[in-house]
Amino acid sequence: MNKTFYITTPIYYPSAKPHMGHAYSSIVADFFARFKSIDDYQVHFLTGTDEHGLKIQRSAEKVGQEPQIFCDQISQTFRELSDTLNLSNTDFIRTTEARHKKTVQHLWSILEKNDDIYLSNYSGWYSVSDEAFYNEEEIEEIDGKKIAISSKSPVEWIEEESYFFRLSKWQKPLLEYYKANPDFISPESRKNEVISFVKGGLKDLSVSRKSFSWGIPVPDNKNHIIYVWLDALTNYLSALNYPNIKDDLFRKYWPATIHLIGKDILRFHAVYWPAFLLAAKIDLPKKVYGHGWILSGDEKMSKSKGNILDPLEIIKEYGLDPLRYYLIKEVSFGNDGNISQDRLEDCINSDLANNYGNLCQRVTAFTIKNCDGKIPSEIKFIDDDFRILNKYKDNLDKIRSKIDNQNINFYIDYIVNSLFEANKYFNDQEPWKRKDDKIRLNTIVYTTLEIVRKVSFLLYPIMPESALKALKIFDINENQIKLNTIDNNEYLVKGNDINKIDILFKKIEKNND
Ligand code: ME8
Ligand code: MG
Repeated sequence: MNKTFYITTPIYYPSAKPHMGHAYSSIVADFFARFKSIDDYQVHFLTGTDEHGLKIQRSAEKVGQEPQIFCDQISQTFRELSDTLNLSNTDFIRTTEARHKKTVQHLWSILEKNDDIYLSNYSGWYSVSDEAFYNEEEIEEIDGKKIAISSKSPVEWIEEESYFFRLSKWQKPLLEYYKANPDFISPESRKNEVISFVKGGLKDLSVSRKSFSWGIPVPDNKNHIIYVWLDALTNYLSALNYPNIKDDLFRKYWPATIHLIGKDILRFHAVYWPAFLLAAKIDLPKKVYGHGWILSGDEKMSKSKGNILDPLEIIKEYGLDPLRYYLIKEVSFGNDGNISQDRLEDCINSDLANNYGNLCQRVTAFTIKNCDGKIPSEIKFIDDDFRILNKYKDNLDKIRSKIDNQNINFYIDYIVNSLFEANKYFNDQEPWKRKDDKIRLNTIVYTTLEIVRKVSFLLYPIMPESALKALKIFDINENQIKLNTIDNNEYLVKGNDINKIDILFKKIEKNND
């Protein structure tokens, strides 16, 4: 059994410190990675920083630093964010690393050898903020300033000698590929956007710059550096030691299972990247998923708009797991989602403190008081118990397939319902009134403890630390969390001691109600 799963986040620009949108992509990627790892997949999870190009060069100049030193510092803050977010990433790549430069230059050489690259002159609009070329129809003028319609970022006119990638040649093969691989671009609505963009015609793509130097040199023409997106996209391969195709990592993990990105960079991942790969005769990733934007008051959260909820501040105030849970629950995955501190607090109080935390506390306190602090030994399930227990077994394959379709909403709803039902079960069964029927009392306790275990297994990919804290009740450690055990209704060892645990989530005092 050798199931593998390779997931990537975008590599972020270290042009400023990380914000909530970056945290969001990384947390969601971690959710998938952890889900797959408890389902016995070998997981490779890649994130990192995208350090070349004019955007970074200018950001460094602004603070009077050498770009490399500037990148070293900010890339470090992204690396620290990965730790702060408790990401299970197995690698962190920087595009300024030697391993990456080698791969990019190699890929360039293949494209050149295959006659997919030629030298000419470029003139057109460029957004440094997006590191993207735009044509006339994609530009508008507001207050005398030209901006890109899609991103609202300013564009400037450039004219220079440039190498071009024959993107036009790949229009038809791309369309055929999308058709033959209907899951390649997700969600569906975004797929349609991409397809109509490609159908609209593809112009050859400028893939080198001459007027600045912060980038990877074109092999055999040091006057040019490679376009930062061709450079950046290649990180997904360089992290697997491509072109060393005999390398274990490459053999095991390519093609990537999923590139998880925001919808802002879908075109690069769903058009340019597959075209480069087709041209180089390298297998295409299985899926590109473009999630929506985190909004704050209906606007994309971004540093230029100054409407940022700083993930680090939120984590300091509320803890990491509440943020992870809240983001995963609040944003309907694939769509844009508005977040607010107020609703984060409501979510902590209702879902985490009242539902999950309370369930754990209640059943452990009851077990300590009435079952000698041990997992009951003598039990006899009745229909009421089977009804709530078997739900996990009956839904296991469904949960797996929903996750393979990135249906996080199903997953979180499933958990919320489970917690609600478990609390209701405990209330309705009234174990405190069964002191004269020890077997019934035991069975209710056992069933509820089993549910705590099962739900904690499911919560682990969302809130690893809190789930592990809850699982301390049973002395279950991280390596023992296996998805395929949630169909076992008698997993907990009868007669074992249970442990009392600290409060999992503190309720937030709200001043305005
Ligand atoms: O584009 N809501 O880097 P970047 C949700 N270096 N997600 C958001 C977001 C928001 N408001 N803001 C950012 C780049 N993101 C390139 C990528 S990949 C080969 C190169 C997330 O620092 C989202 O994943 O601008 C988005 O695609 C990414 O950060 C852009 O990060
Ligand atoms: Mg950006």
